[in-house]
Amino acid sequence: MRQDARPVPDRRSEGDPDGQGGHLDGFRELERRRQRAHEGGGRARKERQHDRGKLTARERVKLLVDPDSWIETDALREPRDPEIGDTKAAPGDGVVTGSAEVDGKPVAVYAQDFTVQGGSLGRSHASKIAKTLDQAIRQRCPVIGFNDSGGARIQEGVASLAGYGDIFQRNVEASGLVPQITVVAGPCAGGAVYSPALTDFVILVRGSGRMFLTGPDVVETVTGEDVTSEELGGASVHGSESGVAHFVADDEQEAIAQARRLLDYLPRSTQHELPTRDGPEAEPTTEPVLDGIIPDQREKPYDIDEVTRRIVDGGRTLEVMQDFAPNIRTSFARLGGTPVGVVANDPAHLAGVLDLDASTKAARFVRTCDAFGLPVVSLVDVPGFLPGTDQEHNGVIRHGAKLVHAYAEAEVPTLTCVLRKAYGGAYIAMNSQHLGCDVNLAWPTAEIAVMGPDGAVRVLHREQLAEADDPEALRAQLRQEFEDAFADPYQAAREGYVDEVVEPRHTRNRMITWLDRLSDAGHESPSKPHGNTPL
Ligand code: HXC
Repeated sequence: MRQDARPVPDRRSEGDPDGQGGHLDGFRELERRRQRAHEGGGRARKERQHDRGKLTARERVKLLVDPDSWIETDALREPRDPEIGDTKAAPGDGVVTGSAEVDGKPVAVYAQDFTVQGGSLGRSHASKIAKTLDQAIRQRCPVIGFNDSGGARIQEGVASLAGYGDIFQRNVEASGLVPQITVVAGPCAGGAVYSPALTDFVILVRGSGRMFLTGPDVVETVTGEDVTSEELGGASVHGSESGVAHFVADDEQEAIAQARRLLDYLPRSTQHELPTRDGPEAEPTTEPVLDGIIPDQREKPYDIDEVTRRIVDGGRTLEVMQDFAPNIRTSFARLGGTPVGVVANDPAHLAGVLDLDASTKAARFVRTCDAFGLPVVSLVDVPGFLPGTDQEHNGVIRHGAKLVHAYAEAEVPTLTCVLRKAYGGAYIAMNSQHLGCDVNLAWPTAEIAVMGPDGAVRVLHREQLAEADDPEALRAQLRQEFEDAFADPYQAAREGYVDEVVEPRHTRNRMITWLDRLSDAGHESPSKPHGNTPL
């Protein structure tokens, strides 16, 4: 003890065993209020939540965050205007908010509490979420939200709607600065869906998570369709048809595990370093299996996941939008310890063609990687854009342009490897050197051409084939001539459009080396507010 320091009086005495002096009543009052807040909507409503296979807001938070890291904020908030309408006392106003850590990294969290007025969003509820987003923006840390709500609190009228606006505005402010993840584990209806939709990743829980702008009753009134809420906005719809959900989880435990895995690949904010890893898994290795993976027949599919797994560290990937537009695959992985995004055409689905949904899916993924500083690796085997009136009339030009724009604007290091087909506009769109990819590799099996042999023969030799005695024999001969002349990577290599033709076994090594060499490379962007992405 320093000489001049005064001894702290020991307040503990017989009448004051805790040493809390005359504040004992105040501390008891705090404890009473805290307990009341923690009771949420009470035992019966919690049981109802459990009976439906759902966790309570606090149970969700506990599963998500590191033990002993949780600090709850605004636990004592209540509806701001209890006299408005029939608003009952609502501990925490139906949402649990706070700060915590996930794997030692800070995060901000909010979880709507369905046991309190159905998790409906009133003014205090909205301002708690807005404050949590403000804190995430200030602290430069990810924010994870759990949505489970009856929507705008009816009794609070337009004030609830204003609350949504405040949240949307902050979602946009946080966009491109800190990762935003939403777990939808209950109803999420009406305009409320736009907060999840504005975040980077939506994880939807099968069975309980539902998202729609207008519910089944309104749909029936307006369109006459008889549809259940699951059919309208359940996990299988948003996971495979609409593309609204990035991940679908079978239960809440899985959803929370997915959120934690996702955070493992993302930086704390776009102003922080990527979470890189050292270790034997990150070391370069040759992968001889890849040499034999491309089948002899051009049209035969193969396992693109196997290719990805053989290139990335430890064969580990986290696939995003697994069941939506599976003709293109988008995954997070590590390469030489650095988190990367992998975009790969999948020849086992629609021959890996680019269509409306594949273009939008890949464009969004590339933008996400670019925002968070993750290098993008593209594995190309693409026969072209999908032809047809459906595609043209629904705007494949507009959607394809998104992909071109996303790749061309990306500032992160990008590596492309052409495995087999790279035909026509799709060759350009899949991050060719012409869009600014840093390094373009090709396997000896690559075929970089204006179109495939069948199409080329049809266009170039229509009259000759029409007049031939044996058109099929002539077609086969012309086809072979075209393949010999064009279906390889060497014309592109001669032009310098391919930097190196590599044996498949060396792809991993080369990519790790290039990533290392490109790590300090920066793209010079002209000074302008932002590009005009074709939305
Ligand atoms: C106030 C609400 C509420 C709401 C539910 N509750 N929704 N209170 N405002 N929007 C209350 C119920 O009165 C009930 O209170 C408790 O929450 C649980 O609700 P239940 O109906 O018993 O639960 P359940 O049977 O599971 O049905 C859940 C539900 C249903 C499907 C969500 O409650 C429902 O349809 N709610 C209304 C949904 C809706 O139309 N919201 C407005 C959407 S428009 P007690 O005290 O009995 O437990 C919107 C606009 C946003 O949100 C615009 C943003 C720009």
